[in-house]
Amino acid sequence: MPMNQISKNHDTHWNRYYASDDVPMLPSQFSVFVASEFPDADFIVDIGCGNGRDAFFFCKQGYRVVAVDASAAAIESIQDKCGDMAGPLALQCRIDGAGTAEDIRRVLTDNGIEGRGVVYARFFLHAIDQTGEDAFLEVCRAISTLRDVSVAVEFRTVRDKSLPKETPDHFRRYLNPPEFVQNAARFGFRTEYLTEGFGFAKYKSDDAHVARVILAR
Ligand SMILES: C[S@@+](CC[C@H](N)C(=O)[O-])C[C@H]1O[C@@H](n2cnc3c(N)ncnc32)[C@H](O)[C@@H]1O
Repeated sequence: MPMNQISKNHDTHWNRYYASDDVPMLPSQFSVFVASEFPDADFIVDIGCGNGRDAFFFCKQGYRVVAVDASAAAIESIQDKCGDMAGPLALQCRIDGAGTAEDIRRVLTDNGIEGRGVVYARFFLHAIDQTGEDAFLEVCRAISTLRDVSVAVEFRTVRDKSLPKETPDHFRRYLNPPEFVQNAARFGFRTEYLTEGFGFAKYKSDDAHVARVILAR
């Protein structure tokens, strides 16, 4: 299948998913872990934020939050939920699109978001291809030249491939954690923390085998 067709099917999947009412809004276990690891951070950039379940949680904890996603339906659902209250600053863009790092940097600068931050991506890396992973790490590197940031990611590993899933079938790329941290090193990131296993992201019958990684420059 041509690459632009794969990407179109992918966008259709996420737009349909986030336009439905059946998407969890409770914050993930990973977001609570990251909040407890970075209590002194000033801001979070949540990449592949979906409906903002974690972005809203981070806002409630007092962080300034930029929520980034390619799906128009996901970004609209965040904007609808914000109403008049202060919520995440929502940005619709593809991680591998031209100018994404610049767009995020502009949102930080224009909104006076300074200090120390975390680039956060939960269940995002396995939703994109290898080119997307490189683009993600390039965006992390670009943000880290402007602000002091760590990177916190959680993703499905190769051991998760054949296990039951709660959400409908769609593109998933199961990652090998040592390969990911090796790739991150090419972008100048060292691994501060890496763990993997079950029980970190259980959702009904889906007890995903995931890795959690914290990177720093
Ligand atoms: C599995 S969902 C994770 C959502 C949320 N982080 C969570 O944990 O509930 C993956 C998200 O990545 C977004 N996404 C997929 N490909 C993308 C891309 N190339 N650029 C930006 N976002 C993308 C999808 O729209 C979707 O919201």
